[in-house]
Formats: sequence, C-alpha cells, structure tokens
Amino acid sequence: MKGIIFTEFLELVEKKFGLAMVDKIINQSQLESAGIYTAVGTYEFSEMLQLISHLSQNTDISVDDLLMVYSEHLFAALIKTHPNLVEHYKDPMNLLASIENHIHVEVQKIYPDAQLPTFDLEERTEDKMIMVYKSDKALYMLGKGLMLETFKLFKVPVTIEFEKLNKEGTQVRFFINKG
Ligand code: HEM
Repeated sequence: MKGIIFTEFLELVEKKFGLAMVDKIINQSQLESAGIYTAVGTYEFSEMLQLISHLSQNTDISVDDLLMVYSEHLFAALIKTHPNLVEHYKDPMNLLASIENHIHVEVQKIYPDAQLPTFDLEERTEDKMIMVYKSDKALYMLGKGLMLETFKLFKVPVTIEFEKLNKEGTQVRFFINKG
C-alpha cells in the first residue's frame, strides 16, 4: 500500500486524537516499517489494518466509521497532490465513471507499485449509476466515503447505497443516485 495512505492517515490521527495516540497505535502494532512512512514508499497493507484496528479499539469508534472520516481527509489530500487528474471534470458522475479508465490509470503510472481496486460500471443514466467495487483489501467503506466526497466537491446531493456480494466485502455493488 502506498505511503501517502499511511502519512495522511497518521496526520489525521494526530489532528483528531493527538500525537500520543499516534505513538500508541504504532507501539501496539507489529510494523516492519517501524511506523516510519514516506508518501512515495510502499508498505504492507497489514500495517494499515493493524493501525486502524488499534485506533478503533482505543477510541471505541468502529473501523467503518473511522474509514468514513478518513476518506474526507484522504480525498482532500489526493486532489491537492494530483489536481490535474480531477480539474477538467465538471460533474461528479463523470468523475466517478472515470476512476477505472482514467484516474486510477494515471495513478498507476505515477505509482507503478500501487495496488488499486477495480470499479466496473454496470449501469449509467443521467441520475443513476451502478458500480461494482473489487479489491482484496475490502476497503469499500473508504470507497463509499471517497464517492461521497466527490459529490460534495461539486455540491451535488447524492444517496449512495451498497450491497456486499460476499461476506469479506472484497466485491461490493454500489447504487449511486443523484438527489
Ligand atoms: C484524484 C483522485 C484520486 C487519486 C489521485 C487516487 C489515488 C489512489 C491511491 C494512490 C491509492 C492507493 C493505492 C495503493 O496503496 O497501492 C488509491 C486507493 C483507492 N482508491 Fe483512489 N484515487 C483517487 C480517487 C478515488 C475515488 C474518487 C475513489 C472512489 C470511488 C477511489 C477509490 C479508491 C479506493 C477504494 C482505494 C483503496 C484501495 C483498495 O480498495 O484496493 N479513488 N487511490
């Protein structure tokens, strides 16, 4: 997993819960990196799982809720770091429909060792979109949060629902409805 995901995560933990919590979750985890991350480095995904589950235990906030909060912070960081990837989009539906064949394609060129999810577009009308998320990482709540942030960016109201296609959540169908 790319370092930017870790550096932004720890920055948010510091902002919301303080530096002592950052130290605590690093010390509670078994980290090959020793908790030292650079934005362009690549680290084991299991390190993120440990950090977030310890944060969840220490704060009594569910991992899903933490991922939703994190998505807000991460989205802002991603578009600030890569403004050229999003600036020509005029509409959140177009942006989301383009993750698979434009945005994450460019991301893969910038970070060749990134392991990105796939989003298969199953249905698309003016107001509605159905997309299937697939990733071994099962970070579909992060995906939902990033989708909501995309709509917020354009100030377009949206309702996003999903159904898990398997127990693990490595395949999840999203129903995105404007309004
Ligand atoms: C400028 C826009 C975006 C950039 C630059 C970007 C970049 C990235 C990067 C660098 C990663 C980490 C990959 C790794 O660690 O190997 C990632 C993961 C991810 N991205 Fe994006 N992304 C963008 C927009 C979005 C949007 C709008 C969504 C919402 C559908 C999304 C969904 C995800 C998810 C769910 C992951 C977690 C990895 C997984 O589930 O397998 N991304 N993205």
